[in-house]
Amino acid sequence: MTKISHITSRLELEGITLPNDFLNQTIEVLTSHESVRGFQPKPLPEEMFEAIITASRSAPTSSNLQAYSIIVVKNEERKDKLARLSGNQNFIREAPVFLIFCADIFRLKYVTARQEYRFSADTLEMFLLAAMDASLALQNAVVAAESLGLACCPVGSIRNDPIAVAEELNLPKGVFAVSGLAIGFEREGVRRGVKPRLPSQVTVHVETYSRDDLDKYLNEYDQTMISRRTYDGRRVSLAGEPEKGGIEYGWCEHTARRCSRPETIAVSASLRENLKQILKEYGFSLK
Ligand SMILES: Cc1cc2nc3c(=O)[nH]c(=O)nc-3n(C[C@H](O)[C@H](O)[C@H](O)COP(=O)(O)O)c2cc1C
Repeated sequence: MTKISHITSRLELEGITLPNDFLNQTIEVLTSHESVRGFQPKPLPEEMFEAIITASRSAPTSSNLQAYSIIVVKNEERKDKLARLSGNQNFIREAPVFLIFCADIFRLKYVTARQEYRFSADTLEMFLLAAMDASLALQNAVVAAESLGLACCPVGSIRNDPIAVAEELNLPKGVFAVSGLAIGFEREGVRRGVKPRLPSQVTVHVETYSRDDLDKYLNEYDQTMISRRTYDGRRVSLAGEPEKGGIEYGWCEHTARRCSRPETIAVSASLRENLKQILKEYGFSLK
């Protein structure tokens, strides 16, 4: 069997050959991305951190509104608390730096009032815009960190308990923690190789959306993930429901089970059921 698990480039994994002219360092870094969940107890050199933050702040931002904020957490106690609030994922404690990327309309409200206008942009669109700004800043940080030989892992579980996180980080109304990012020097032996993605025919559409051969490609991806043993020991339990016979446990079964049990995606009930309410309380009226 091919040793898929330790392939470190998506180009190699998918057998894609690019001419040397197009195989620059940026493409190499992007196609070698892997989320890494284990870090050495070693701080980041200050200038390395500066490079990451500057790259992060250079991400495109809707209308140059810069509707995001990054909270830099290095304090051990605070990291421990945030780890506990984020599903107790230990790699958050291990990482020397934990960044929290927030959607931020507090500053826009402040500026609008400062210039003596009434803020009327507390719309759903504004929340989406701010969440996208925060996400783009996060992704630039990922690329910058990986290009410097560091490793990282985004942490969506920072949204498990938005109120406790907001209190811990002293977030004003209008600031919502969208995702964390643990960054550090990886521990040896924690990589598994780049994770296979759905075939491009499924996620990339030419000119118009296509569902052609969807089942064929889904079956193909299932086989890839099964042969990589991705879900060994990670099956979503059917909680008392009888197992269906003859079902292969691949990406489709795993994903369908998760989507039928939202608690396996968003662990906290407050996030699943009350997010809209929490966002409203936190200054995003989502009109
Ligand atoms: C917004 C976002 C939130 C995520 N949250 C978590 C998380 O809380 N814990 C975790 O272990 N991985 C988290 N991940 C990492 C994903 O599991 C990972 O990106 C995905 O499985 C694909 O693997 P790869 O990044 O190694 O290619 C998150 C990724 C994203 C983009």
